[in-house]
Amino acid sequence: MNIIGIERVVYGVQDLAACGRYLTDWGFVSAGQGEYETAEKTVVRLRAQDDASLPAIRHKSAFFDGSCGREVIWGVDSGDTLSAIAGELSRDRIVTEDAERTLHSQDDAGNAVGFCVTKRVPVVQPPLAFNLVGAPVRINMPADGAAKNMVARPLRINHVVYMAVDGEAAQANARFYQSRLGFKLSDNVGDHGFFMRPGASHDHHNILVEAISPGSFGIQHTAYEFRDLDHIMHRGRHLEEQGWKSHNGPGRHTVGSNLTWYFWTPMGGLMELISDMDYLTDDWKPRFIDPKVAGRPIAWTSRPSSESFRFGVSD
Ligand SMILES: [Fe+2]
Repeated sequence: MNIIGIERVVYGVQDLAACGRYLTDWGFVSAGQGEYETAEKTVVRLRAQDDASLPAIRHKSAFFDGSCGREVIWGVDSGDTLSAIAGELSRDRIVTEDAERTLHSQDDAGNAVGFCVTKRVPVVQPPLAFNLVGAPVRINMPADGAAKNMVARPLRINHVVYMAVDGEAAQANARFYQSRLGFKLSDNVGDHGFFMRPGASHDHHNILVEAISPGSFGIQHTAYEFRDLDHIMHRGRHLEEQGWKSHNGPGRHTVGSNLTWYFWTPMGGLMELISDMDYLTDDWKPRFIDPKVAGRPIAWTSRPSSESFRFGVSD
């Protein structure tokens, strides 16, 4: 299955205006019709919580207030791949197709998932000019990250994290993505956290299914890729200046290596700014990481966590 990555995340929210302002403060560009684009044209779609076009709410968490992620749409390379997915999933579950030629179905945990032929416009960035000791490359040239008015935009949707009610449920749903949709396991944390990437992706993870808060399920956070730490810091500082609440960061994760900064969102749960995630090929051997030995796989951060920080949110 040539699934590339996340094409669109659909949220059902209580306050459309506040959520639109939040995404604009993140650097998304409004495309109208409640859609907010990254540079690669991957999209966050906002709908009212009770919009009849949305899948049913499938969410239980300590932070749920009526707003949450309702559906994740994966982008694929071709109509043939789309047909193959429809054939595979319709063996044991309902698959529908809408007027936009997007397929809609469910994963094994009941999360609404969809598939469409990608419309993304790949962004190819020039190498960073970073002066290392003994190896300067940016000569007689100020760093562009030094500019106060630098525009830091989300480049693409990177990943989604689903809560699973327990380790067994996480394992079962991870098996679904691997055996039915061709996802690859990147790392397994304690048999209760499964980092995966679809077949045509090299990102360490585009999905994590994790039992982090017993009994909870649904989307915990979505993550968006920025150029580098300069862009994360500029955008994160702007978000704080606009009054949005940091959850944890900036820092770097211990699994996947990505730079990170989490913010609470009025869309429900968290949104994460990321950059510099591990790039994997089929030579990568999935690791089993035992949290009892390695400690909890969170991140180191450059400053103390906010008062609202709780790993897993409800534990
Ligand atoms: Fe994340």
